Amino acid sequence: MLANPALIYLDHNATTPIDPGVRDAMMPFLSDRYGNPSSQHALGRQAAKAVEQARQQLSQFLDCSSDELFFTSGGTESSNLAISGTIMATDSPASAHIITSAIEHPATLEPCRALRQMGCEITVIGCDSNGVMQPHEVASAIQPNTKLVSVMHANNETGSIQPINAISHICKQSGILLHVDAAQSVGKLPVSCQKIGIDLMTVAGHKFYAPKGIGCLVARKGITLSPLVHGGGQESGLSPGTENVAQIVALGAAAEIAAEKSGSDAMRICGLRDQFENLVEQETHGDIFIHAKSAERLMNTTSVSFPDVEAVELLNRIPFLCASTGAACHSHSTVISATLQAMGVTEPIARGTVRISMGRHTTEDEIQQAAYALAKTWKKIRTTRPAAYEAGDTTKP
Ligand SMILES: Cc1ncc(COP(=O)(O)O)c(C=O)c1O
Repeated sequence: MLANPALIYLDHNATTPIDPGVRDAMMPFLSDRYGNPSSQHALGRQAAKAVEQARQQLSQFLDCSSDELFFTSGGTESSNLAISGTIMATDSPASAHIITSAIEHPATLEPCRALRQMGCEITVIGCDSNGVMQPHEVASAIQPNTKLVSVMHANNETGSIQPINAISHICKQSGILLHVDAAQSVGKLPVSCQKIGIDLMTVAGHKFYAPKGIGCLVARKGITLSPLVHGGGQESGLSPGTENVAQIVALGAAAEIAAEKSGSDAMRICGLRDQFENLVEQETHGDIFIHAKSAERLMNTTSVSFPDVEAVELLNRIPFLCASTGAACHSHSTVISATLQAMGVTEPIARGTVRISMGRHTTEDEIQQAAYALAKTWKKIRTTRPAAYEAGDTTKP
């Protein structure tokens, strides 16, 4: 799957490779099927039909109606549209209140911050030491002016799965809209909009084997959203501009492939994740810490702290291993991740955190090589720097 087979790719929560079936489906739309879906002629109609077929594939996969699904440029646009779009469509946006959480992706936190600058009130709830939000915190944060609760389904760093059904129940009872960022769960867990009871949901294609730059927003019928950008009427005016047909077709194909493969993928990958964790624990004599281990987690994700080392240094010394330190989207930053901070993880532990996220093509051999290399390199760094080890705070959170 990898262009360079010497690399071991364990960063699927950052992005996934494009599935060969997805690539095959989109290629004709990058060559001879180049029509604009708004054109009335044969090529245009062909493109429009392909877009509508993708919408059907997605709506079936996500268990929503096809007219509740709007293609976007990905997770970031979807969440911005859900959050800003909801608030800007209310009678008095500046006096609205939003509830979100400390473990959200910047695609959620930043639009909230921008709305706060406009006068909106934002309540940020925390999480427990496993990175799981508590529904009662959502309930007690509700105010008469609360218009939206925006929380994630599964955390990108630890994989912890959030109690969305309980939060949805609370929102329904209070008549408040619920936006769920499902960028990390779609394709890994069965996600049914009907069963979860969401009003708005973010989907990012490149997290489940579609290309980067395509996603969708599910918005339940009857919800009014104010568009972020203005232009032609594409996507019901919510994401205007000529449709990115090839990418949309790719997203539809990725959904269909995920519907077929994700159940068996999940079982196999869960076994690999457990094997990886057991091996690392065994090789380090249990001296590491696995975050959110006792929480319900995404089957492909493990967030492991190697105390007394910088995760960046650890990974730099294993150049064949593609993994992440903290959240991928801000991996150049030395700031401790907000998720680990919210979980109460101490700084020395947080700094040594490596996120391993497995995927459809991950093999047992890769898992073993990664586990041995991480444990061996960690021990080497520690023994060459005994002073740091002795001085370091090795308390586990
Ligand atoms: C939980 C979560 N939400 C949103 C996003 C943003 O998605 P995109 O990269 O498609 O804009 C990401 C990407 O890392 C994510 O992990």
